[in-house]
Amino acid sequence: MHLFRHMKSLFGSASILFFFAVVFVNCRPKTSTSANEWREYLGGPDRNHYSALEEINPSNVDQLAVAWEYHTQDSGQVQCNPIIVNGVLYAMTASAQPFALDAATGKEIWRIRDTASVKWYGTIRGVSYWEDKEDKRILYTKESSLYAVDALTGMPVMSFGEGGHVSLASGLGEMAKNKFVISNTPGAVYEDLIIMPLRLSEGNDAAPGYVQAFDIRSGKIAWVFKTIPHPGELGYDTWPPNAYQDSTIGAANNWSGMAVDHGRGIVFVPTGSAAFDFYGGNRTGDNLFANTLLALDAKTGKRLWHFQMVHHDILDRDAPAPPNLLTVNHDGKRIDAVAQVTKQGYVFLFNRETGEPLFPIEEVPVPASDVPGEVASATQPRPVKPLPYARQTFAENDISPYAANREELIQILRKSRSEGPFTPLSRQGTVIFPGLDGGAEWGGTAVDPEGIMYVNSNEMAWLISLDTISMKEKNALLFTGEEIYSAYCTTCHGKERGGNKASGFPELQHVGDRQTRENVMTLLNGGKGMMPAFKQLSDQQKKNLVAFLYGDRQAAKPDKKEPGPTKPVEGQKKDYKISGYTKFLDQDGYQAIGPPWGTLNAIDLNTGEYVWKIPYGESPALAAKGIPQTGSESYGGPVITASGLLFIAGTKDQKFRAYDKKTGNLLWETTLPAAAYATPSTYSANGKQYIVMACGGTKLGSPKGDSYVAFALPD
Ligand code: HEC
Repeated sequence: MHLFRHMKSLFGSASILFFFAVVFVNCRPKTSTSANEWREYLGGPDRNHYSALEEINPSNVDQLAVAWEYHTQDSGQVQCNPIIVNGVLYAMTASAQPFALDAATGKEIWRIRDTASVKWYGTIRGVSYWEDKEDKRILYTKESSLYAVDALTGMPVMSFGEGGHVSLASGLGEMAKNKFVISNTPGAVYEDLIIMPLRLSEGNDAAPGYVQAFDIRSGKIAWVFKTIPHPGELGYDTWPPNAYQDSTIGAANNWSGMAVDHGRGIVFVPTGSAAFDFYGGNRTGDNLFANTLLALDAKTGKRLWHFQMVHHDILDRDAPAPPNLLTVNHDGKRIDAVAQVTKQGYVFLFNRETGEPLFPIEEVPVPASDVPGEVASATQPRPVKPLPYARQTFAENDISPYAANREELIQILRKSRSEGPFTPLSRQGTVIFPGLDGGAEWGGTAVDPEGIMYVNSNEMAWLISLDTISMKEKNALLFTGEEIYSAYCTTCHGKERGGNKASGFPELQHVGDRQTRENVMTLLNGGKGMMPAFKQLSDQQKKNLVAFLYGDRQAAKPDKKEPGPTKPVEGQKKDYKISGYTKFLDQDGYQAIGPPWGTLNAIDLNTGEYVWKIPYGESPALAAKGIPQTGSESYGGPVITASGLLFIAGTKDQKFRAYDKKTGNLLWETTLPAAAYATPSTYSANGKQYIVMACGGTKLGSPKGDSYVAFALPD
C-alpha cells in the first residue's frame, strides 16, 4: 500500500485516496476481501490471523454459545483453518475430503466423498480460493496431487491438469521420481498462480524442495525456484558440488505456508532444513536456501532477497509458520515489514522491500559437533530484539520441581549435551531445547494493525541421540520384517513396538487386533497424519514387514525383484539415524524441565518489547493438586479481532479461550467436543459474527473428535 501513502503525501486528499482505492480493488478482483470473509488461509494473504469484525467484543464474549456443529463422520487429525467466501465455508475433513457449508447454518452444500474403503491421508490444513468473474475455484491437495474444483458445486475443473488434478512433483524433475511428495498447507494465490508448499521425507530419501508456481487455469508449471542451487546459481557454493544431483540430499522445502504482498508482487517463502534432518556430513556448508526466508517475484519466481535463519541445519529447525506482513513505526518512519517466527524462539523482522533487518541480527558462536564427519556451523544468527519468546537453555537447576525422579533426570542431563538452542546431536544424547515443535509451531502467529504480534510458544525439551546405521541397512539389503522395522519404524513406534503416547505414535504390538493387513499396506503406501509413506520399500519388503507386525511364523522371502544398489555405498557419509522422536519427560509423563511448558506472548514489533507474556494452558491433573498455570504444549494459532479479543485453542485440555488482547486477561473459556489443534476463523454471515474451530482431537493422545463448531452471540 505504499502507493496510497505516496498519493496522500502528494495530495492529502481523502477523495483521491478513495478514487485510487476503488480502482485498486476493481483491477484486482481476485484479492479483494471484505471484513465479513476469511478468504484465505489464516485470514488473508498477509497471514495475520486478524479480523476487523467487532460484534463479539470483550463485554459480550462470555455470552458466546454454539451456533452450529458439523460432524465430518471420519476421524484423525484435523488441523484445518477454514476459509469463508461469500457466506460459504470451505474446509477439509481428517481423511482429506473437501467440503462446502452454509457458513450461517453449517448445512452441507457439497462434499467430495471418497469411495475408497480406507482413507489414510496426510493432514491437510486448508484450501485456497480463486475466482475470475463467474469462474470460481477451490484448490486443495490429496496425496501427491493438486486438485481444482468448482467452488459452487465441488465438480472437478476438467481443464485443470489431467481431468482436474496435477502432480505436486510436476516441476521437481528427475530427483523427485518415486519420492514422497505431498502438501499439508494450502497454496498462496497470486493473480492466476498458486504457489505450493510441499511436505517431503525428512530422511536420506527426500525429494528436492523446490518452490513451484502452478497456473490455476491450466495446471501447468509457471515457474520453479530451486532451493538446492544448480551450478552457476547463487548459493551453489554453500553445498558440496554434486549436492543438487545427490539422491541422498533433498528437502529445503517450504511446508508451513507463505505470505503474498499483492501490491508489490512479492511472495515470501520460509523454508525448512535440508534432509536428512539430523546429520549433514554429506552436505557440508551453509546449505542455501534451506532455513531461509525468501522474497521471490511472485510472477516469475526470481529471487529478490533472502535471509538464512539457520546455517547448515542439523536440528530440524524448519521455519514453522508462514511469515506475517505488517507495518511498523521504526526510527520515526512507517515501514512495511515482514516478520518470521522460528522454532528456536526468535522473531526476525525485515523491511519487506529491501530485506534489511529492522532490529540488528548478530552471528552468535554455537557449539561444535563431535559426530564424525559432521561440521556444524560455527555461528548462528540471532536478533538482538525482540528477546526470544522461549527459554534458551536447560541446566540442572531448571529441572521440574514436580518431577518425582529428579535424581534420575539430573543423571540423564549430566551425560547428555545441553548447551543452548544449537547443541548438535551426539552419540550420547542431546537435549533439544526449544524442542522440535518449537517455540513457534505451524499454527502461526497473529499480528494486529498496531504492529503487535501474538505468538503461542511451546517450551518442551526433547532428548535424542544419533545411532549408527548398519551396513546392511545402508546398502538397502534388508529383507526380514524385523530388520525393516528396526531401520524405518523405531524412531516413532519404539524399539519394542511400544509406541510413544506423549507424541501420538501408536503402539504396534497389538495392531493386528485393530487393523486389517490391507489397511496397513495402504498406510505404508500413502502415509497418514504424522506417519510418512514408505515409497522406498518394495512390495515384498512391505509384505515382510506386515508379516512381522502380525507375528507370522513363515520365513520372510528375500526381495528378488528389487535388489539393493549394485555398488555398495560404504564410505558414504550418511551413517546415522536418530534414536527416536522423544520428548524429555519425567516418570509421570510431565516435562523434565520446570514450567512454563507453554506461553502466550504479545510482542510490540514497533519497539521490540513485550506487552505481556503469560503461561498458556494447564495440566489438569496438576491443576487439581493446586498447581495451576503450568502452561502446556499447544498446536494451532491465535486469532485477533478489531474489538480487542484474542481467541485460541490448541491445548490437550479441549479448551477454547478468549483473552483481552491488550492485557492477556482471560475473558471466556469453554470446553470443546474434542481438543482443537488448529487455528480458528472468524467471519460474518447474514449479519452475524461467528467464530469456527475444527475439533479433531487425535494428537498428544487426546480423544477423537470429528466436528467443526461455530460459536456466535445469542439472538
Ligand atoms: C515419523 C513417525 C513415524 C514413522 C517413522 C512411522 N510411523 Fe507409523 N504411525 C505414525 C503415526 C503418527 C501414526 C498414527 C497416524 C494417525 O492415525 O494419524 C502411525 C500409525 C501407524 C499404524 C496404524 C496403527 C493403528 O493403531 O491403527 C501402523 C500399522 C504403522 N504406523 C506402522 C508403521 C511402520 C510399519 C513403520 C515403518 C515402516 C512406521 N509406521 C513408521 C508415525 C510414524
